[in-house]
Amino acid sequence: MLSSKYLLLSFMVVQGQLFLHQLQPFLFVNINDTAKIRCSSKKQFVAGGVTAQWYRRREGEAPMLIKRCSDNQRVSKVACILEGHNLTLEIYNAQRNDSGVYYCTDSYMSFLTFNNGSTLIVGDSYTTCSWVLPLAPSPHDLLSPGTADLACVVHGVSSPVQISLSISGDLQEQGLLRSLKAKDGFLVFLNHISVPVVTWTSGKNFTCDVKFNSSGKSVKKIARYIE
Ligand SMILES: *[C@@H]1O[C@H](CO)[C@@H](O)[C@H](O)[C@H]1NC(C)=O
Ligand SMILES: *[C@@H]1O[C@H](CO)[C@@H](O)[C@H](O)[C@H]1NC(C)=O
Ligand SMILES: *[C@@H]1O[C@H](CO)[C@@H](O)[C@H](O)[C@H]1NC(C)=O
Ligand SMILES: *[C@@H]1O[C@H](CO)[C@@H](O)[C@H](O)[C@H]1NC(C)=O
Ligand SMILES: *[C@@H]1O[C@H](CO)[C@@H](O)[C@H](O)[C@H]1NC(C)=O
Ligand SMILES: *[C@@H]1O[C@H](CO)[C@@H](O)[C@H](O)[C@H]1NC(C)=O
Repeated sequence: MLSSKYLLLSFMVVQGQLFLHQLQPFLFVNINDTAKIRCSSKKQFVAGGVTAQWYRRREGEAPMLIKRCSDNQRVSKVACILEGHNLTLEIYNAQRNDSGVYYCTDSYMSFLTFNNGSTLIVGDSYTTCSWVLPLAPSPHDLLSPGTADLACVVHGVSSPVQISLSISGDLQEQGLLRSLKAKDGFLVFLNHISVPVVTWTSGKNFTCDVKFNSSGKSVKKIARYIE
């Protein structure tokens, strides 16, 4: 009796699961604009029975529940909009402190699973003390055969940024890996990749491309192996 109940329960859990995914790794919006963060499901969303919810993780904080999609009564700052297989979190009158990583999750499950999320950047993270530095090992630090660690440091920013690392124009990694808050209150980000030593020593360009705001411009810094 007990085991059949258990089977029924697990069957229902699998049936109800939404399989949510987010396809916007980064979004830039201006202050006072509306941010629209999208999440899609393999299953059609049905109004009334929505178990999806949104979490936000700000720099240096734990993820926090900010919106249950089942509760759309008080639409003031954020709303959850359902449209077929899509669910959109709208943040009205976006402010700098709305910047962070947003995750849609399904509360139908007894445990939460987080996908990669979407990083929202509101306003301009660029400051007078912002700089970007590509880091690469010197020839005598390289172990051959082995891997070379290439990193990109972004210093002195007020909010998150979008960091793209590429080798000879091929995107390798995009995201934010490590961050720390400096004494002046500004943030430092570090992102890194490991590539085979031969990739690095064959004279390919390693590029750090950092986007601070919605202007369409970015700061690009290149490092290259020199014997
Ligand atoms: C945002 O809106 C407020 C109130 O309307 C206004 O005072 C402020 O200047 C606006 N900020 C920007 C960056 O547009
Ligand atoms: C759902 O989003 C996708 C893009 O992610 C879009 O192509 C599609 O038209 C959207 N569907 C609806 C019903 O809004
Ligand atoms: C976020 O910033 C706005 C104005 O910039 C302020 O009114 C609001 O209280 C802040 N919210 C939090 C949670 O810090
Ligand atoms: C999530 O991030 C990991 C690590 O960066 C990556 O390997 C994976 O492909 C990403 N998944 C999606 C769905 O983008
Ligand atoms: C590497 O970057 C330099 C500029 O720093 C450029 O002149 C060169 O053409 C680039 N090489 C490749 C292979 O992309
Ligand atoms: C945006 O970022 C660029 C660097 O990519 C910077 O030069 C610029 O001052 C920033 N701000 C605006 C408003 O464009």
